Amino acid sequence: MSPFGRGKVILLGEHAVVYGVPALAAGLERGVRATARPAAEPALACAPWGTVDRVGDESDLARAFGALLAGHPDAPLPPLRVEADVGLPAGAGLGCSAALGVAVIRALDAAVGRAASDAEIAERAMAWERVFHGNPSGLDAAMAAHGGVASYVRGQPLERLDVRRPLRLVVGDSGEPSSTRAMVEGVAHQRERDAARFDRALEAIGTLVRNARLAIEAGDAHALGQLMDLNQHLLSAWMLSTTALEDMIGAARAAGAKGAKLTGKGGGGCMIALVETEEEGARVADAIRALGFTAFEAEAR
Ligand code: PMV
Repeated sequence: MSPFGRGKVILLGEHAVVYGVPALAAGLERGVRATARPAAEPALACAPWGTVDRVGDESDLARAFGALLAGHPDAPLPPLRVEADVGLPAGAGLGCSAALGVAVIRALDAAVGRAASDAEIAERAMAWERVFHGNPSGLDAAMAAHGGVASYVRGQPLERLDVRRPLRLVVGDSGEPSSTRAMVEGVAHQRERDAARFDRALEAIGTLVRNARLAIEAGDAHALGQLMDLNQHLLSAWMLSTTALEDMIGAARAAGAKGAKLTGKGGGGCMIALVETEEEGARVADAIRALGFTAFEAEAR
């Protein structure tokens, strides 16, 4: 198996996690695979995008790749060409950039014979993530390296949760890309406008996250679904939801989902719906597709 970086969905707590509230996330089977081989000069080639970026180029990918090479514990490395196969939509809130960064780090490490822990890889991926996201919490990088179902507090190691029953999710993609940096800045702006109101919302999300963790540990999909719905209300009050996301969320609930919300940065990107059975998952995915959006089913444990 070639080196891999995993995609993720945030179950609850996105954005609030930037301000120190715990977030709950689940790793996806989908992600990015990469390999590195000796070459005349260092380069990063990404399929299916058809891009090739070289250190010194102006692009974000070139800058991020350069940051990983410069910060490599065994730097300077011999010139390596990394070929990445990106199996996630970009800008959709599924942690595509972090999965790519982690896959590139693992490919470089494999090429130079370095064995690193998941925690070290997540830490090194932050140099990559900062190029794309400005002020990332580190959640995406940690999930891309570790996977599983986990609780994350900014600046702390990821904590794996004891999942009583695997979480069955449907992911719906609006197909509208949005920028994590812009959405995080938009939320920061709301905080500047009314700090007291913002703090109340943070506290409320913190309470939802604590209860959601208990629900996951108890295998209580009904409670978890309700908590996801409540989190969605608070996220939409921060202007993070869109018509497409609301349409998918409404269709998922009407088709029997236990709960549904946007996942990640919002402003486009993806939503998630919690279901209990395979049949329920198929119904919810069909309801989302009937609106003209793409959907896939995922299981996290
Ligand atoms: O890039 P996304 O869509 O997975 O969003 C990242 C999650 C945020 O909480 C919005 C930002 C962060 O750095 O944690």
